[in-house]
Amino acid sequence: MKLIVTKSYEESCSAAADIILQLVKNKPTAKFGFATGSTPIPIYKKMAEACKAGTADFANARTVNLDEYCGIAPNHPQSYRYFMDTNLFNNININKANTFVANGLGDVNANAAELEEKIFEGGAPDLQLLGIGNNGHIGFNEAGDHLIAPSHVETLTPSTIEANARFFASPAEVPTQAITMGMRGIMAAGQLLLVATGAGKAEAIKGLLIDDAVTTQNPATFLKLHPNAVVIIDSELAALAGVK
Ligand code: GLP
Repeated sequence: MKLIVTKSYEESCSAAADIILQLVKNKPTAKFGFATGSTPIPIYKKMAEACKAGTADFANARTVNLDEYCGIAPNHPQSYRYFMDTNLFNNININKANTFVANGLGDVNANAAELEEKIFEGGAPDLQLLGIGNNGHIGFNEAGDHLIAPSHVETLTPSTIEANARFFASPAEVPTQAITMGMRGIMAAGQLLLVATGAGKAEAIKGLLIDDAVTTQNPATFLKLHPNAVVIIDSELAALAGVK
């Protein structure tokens, strides 16, 4: 695992954007696995800026997203499809037909199977961007006594619902289930790029960077098994997690 410790979250996002922009430069048909949550928003802004400045070209890139809430429509302001459209896809020159976010409505098990197909269609993503939940979840693969390999419907833990309630009018409105890539789809990517910031992530990051254990109680620890995983954190989080 490669660790990059930056001076600030802003710098972490620049470093992550640089890796993504370099990849699409080297391989214009690159396939990206993208993530939602608040952490990647500045990364997506930097990608949009590069596109506007004419230094990046996503016209031939393809994307597949990690997850989507069950029970809300793609045009719901809190859906991950809406998040990706407004934070990235509408602001870069990507062909939307080449972007995939699972549908949270209808037969969600069939939609999870469709996500699994899309992950591997034409080959697994060249790069998978990841945030991390307070409990170490990646995508919506929650901490627990086991993890699930294929894309599936996950029941969210109370701590995840609480953490994500800030985006909804009340905790009762947060969907209790989500479709997520499983660990197989995530681990299949050519490169994993995890960005984290904030005190809430310190325990999970300690488990990832300090401890040697790989544990389903902290799903991000599976990154230790990936041959090309990059973790970017700022010095504040590094200090809180005890990373020297
Ligand atoms: C959600 C997403 C994850 C994300 C996590 C952390 O649960 N499913 O992909 O990593 O939130 O979000 P944030 O970056 O807002 O802390």
